[in-house]
Amino acid sequence: MTDIPESVRFLHEVEIGLGAWAWGDRLVWGYGKGYADTDIEEAFRVSVEHGVTLIDTAEVYGNGRSERLLGQFIQKLKQPVIVATKFFPMPWRIRRASVTRALRHSLERLQLERVDLYQIHWPSPLVPIEQYVEGMVSAHRLGLTRAIGVSNYDKNQMQRAITTLARYGLPLASNQVEYHLLNRRVEKNGLLERCQELGVRLIAYSPLAMGLLTGKYGPQNPPPGMRSGRYAAILKDIQPLLRLMTEIGQDLGGKSPAQIALNWIICKGALPIPGAKNARQAETNAGAAGWRLTPEQVRALDQASDPFTK
Ligand SMILES: NC(=O)c1ccc[n+]([C@@H]2O[C@H](COP(=O)([O-])OP(=O)(O)OC[C@H]3O[C@@H](n4cnc5c(N)ncnc54)[C@H](OP(=O)(O)O)[C@@H]3O)[C@@H](O)[C@H]2O)c1
Repeated sequence: MTDIPESVRFLHEVEIGLGAWAWGDRLVWGYGKGYADTDIEEAFRVSVEHGVTLIDTAEVYGNGRSERLLGQFIQKLKQPVIVATKFFPMPWRIRRASVTRALRHSLERLQLERVDLYQIHWPSPLVPIEQYVEGMVSAHRLGLTRAIGVSNYDKNQMQRAITTLARYGLPLASNQVEYHLLNRRVEKNGLLERCQELGVRLIAYSPLAMGLLTGKYGPQNPPPGMRSGRYAAILKDIQPLLRLMTEIGQDLGGKSPAQIALNWIICKGALPIPGAKNARQAETNAGAAGWRLTPEQVRALDQASDPFTK
C-alpha cells in the first residue's frame, strides 16, 4: 500500500463510524414512526461515549434534517467529532461553484465552519467528474473541508478523481460504496483492492444490509416499508448465513450477528458506517470494533455468503 498522506490519515485511524441517513428520513426509514429526535440524539450520544466519533450524513438525508440534527447534537458536546457530509449532483448543478455553494449551506445546517470530509454523493450523468472535483478543490482551498472523498464511483471514475486532485497536489481520501456480506461486489470487481493499493479509504455503506444482517428480520417478519421489496426474495436464503453468524458470535463470547457483520468488514480493511436509530443499536454497533474475527471465521463467512452475494 502507498504511504497515506498525513492530511487523510485520520480516516485510516477510524475503525467504525455512524451513518445518519435515517435521521429525518421518512420515505425509506419511517422517521417519526417508532423513533424520534430524542432516540436519535441518544444514538449519537452513546456512539460518541463508546468512541465512535465519525458521523456520515448528506445534504439530501431528510432533506437537510439529518445535518441539522447532527449540528444541534454537536453543539451540546464537549469533544470534537469527525463530520463527513455529501454533495448531491442535482441536474441543475452544472458549475464548479455549485460545490462550494452547497457546502456552505451544509455548514450552516451543521453549525460548523468546516467539515472533515466532503464527498461527491454520486457521479453525475451530466457533469464531468473533473468539474465537480475541481469544485471540491476550491472548497478545500477555502478551508471548508479538511479532506475530499467520492461515493459510488467505480474504478475508472475514481481514477479520474485521483488524477484531477493530483494536479492540485491533493489526495483522494475515500470512496464510499455499498459493501456488506450480501453485496461483495467491491471484492469481486477489484475496487477494494485498488483503494487499498492507492491509500483511498473504502467506506462501507449499508454495512448491515439495511438491517437484514442483524438477524431480526426473516421470511415471516420482513423489514417494513421500501426495504421489504428490495430484500424479500433473499430473506429465506440468508438464514443459514445468519445462523453461522450467531454461532460465531457465541464462540466469541456473545457477539451479536450485527457485530459479526460489521467486524467482517473491518477485517476486510474497510470502514463500516452502520446507521443507528436509538441508543441500543448504537451501543451494539460500537461493540463491533476493538477486536477481530479469526481468519478462519472470515473465510467461513465468505463461503456462507458466496452463493447469493452479488
Ligand atoms: N453514499 C451512499 O450512496 C449511501 C447509501 C446508503 C447509505 N449510506 C450511508 O451508510 C449509512 C448506513 O447505511 P444504511 O443506514 O443504509 O444501512 P445499515 O447501516 O446497513 O442499517 C441501518 C439500519 O439497521 C437497523 N439497525 C442498525 N443497527 C442495529 C442493531 N444493532 N440491531 C438491530 N437493528 C439495527 C436500523 O433500522 P431498523 O431498526 O428499522 O431495522 C438501522 O436504521 C447511512 O446512514 C448513510 O450514512 C450512504
